Amino acid sequence: MKAELDKQWLPVRPRRLRGSAGVRAMVRECRVTTDDLIQPLFVIDGEGPAEAIESLPGQRRLPIKDLVQECRELQELGIRGVALFPSLDPALKTEGGEEALNPDTLVLRAVRAVRGACPELLILTDIALDPYTTHGHDGVLNAEGDDVDNDATVRILCEMAVLHAAAGVPFVAPSDMMDGRVGAIRAALDAGGHSGTGIVAYSAKFNSAFYGPFRDAVGSSKAAGTRLLSKATYQLDPANPRSAEIELSQDEAEGADVLMVKPAGAYLDIIRMAREMSQQPIAAYQVSGEYAQIHAAAQLGWLDLKSIRDESLLAIKRAGADWILTYFARDFATDCQGMR
Ligand code: PBG
Repeated sequence: MKAELDKQWLPVRPRRLRGSAGVRAMVRECRVTTDDLIQPLFVIDGEGPAEAIESLPGQRRLPIKDLVQECRELQELGIRGVALFPSLDPALKTEGGEEALNPDTLVLRAVRAVRGACPELLILTDIALDPYTTHGHDGVLNAEGDDVDNDATVRILCEMAVLHAAAGVPFVAPSDMMDGRVGAIRAALDAGGHSGTGIVAYSAKFNSAFYGPFRDAVGSSKAAGTRLLSKATYQLDPANPRSAEIELSQDEAEGADVLMVKPAGAYLDIIRMAREMSQQPIAAYQVSGEYAQIHAAAQLGWLDLKSIRDESLLAIKRAGADWILTYFARDFATDCQGMR
């Protein structure tokens, strides 16, 4: 048996291409770089101090002054984009989310400050009402209070997008999942003289339990006082790739510049589908729960934080994402710099 093996001619020995660090680097098929990453950041009003977010270790709600400093540092680390999320004083929240249309609302003051300090930095702002509504839904409710009113919400989102564009946001990011909002926002932006403002559409956004820590961070977790308890009437059913395909192709047809899949790690099949369907750039959002579970396992000593972080990002890239929104952006970039 041994003699036979010795004589065996094996033309294909894949291990030859894994034999050294040098050859492994030269045949590596995909890489994550700081150019791919967007850091989500939470902003609060006032002079501070920054507030820790328990379920998102290492992430904080930042007053504008600290936010600007954070953006400067991210840029120095090679990160090119941030996604800003306001965490509002509950006193400003209403049924109808009116604060979203205040031209001087927190997130717009934050945008102006960051634009002034880091004009090159790409800023994404969420177009959705959940930070502004008492019930935490992404839109306004119908008269019965048992669903989000699609078309009334879209009208508000259009006004909101125009306000954001006027504040200098280069890409608005509708994350609400209302029907027809991308086309309506595109038309409103163009009519308002903002044809240069892009749309990063949360196209395939699933009704996921992975958003829990984010809702803690912005205080949108309670659907209090409403009969609509979940976001299942507008966000996609996690079981439905074909529904995701419809959403992706509609948003592309309506003029989205970038199509997003969210969450990322548990939806790699959807990222791959988006990549194959469309020639537009694909973004994927590694959401708060994905980040939290990696940290939790690392805190228990059960998984190695950096290795899992890098492997999770690589998987999202490999599936076909061009942009990755991730709470790990800063840490990843910091480690990249250490290696230079
Ligand atoms: C809401 C919004 C959510 C996230 C981003 N925008 C949560 C939700 O749909 O309730 C989640 C992001 C994360 O979990 O990191 N418009």
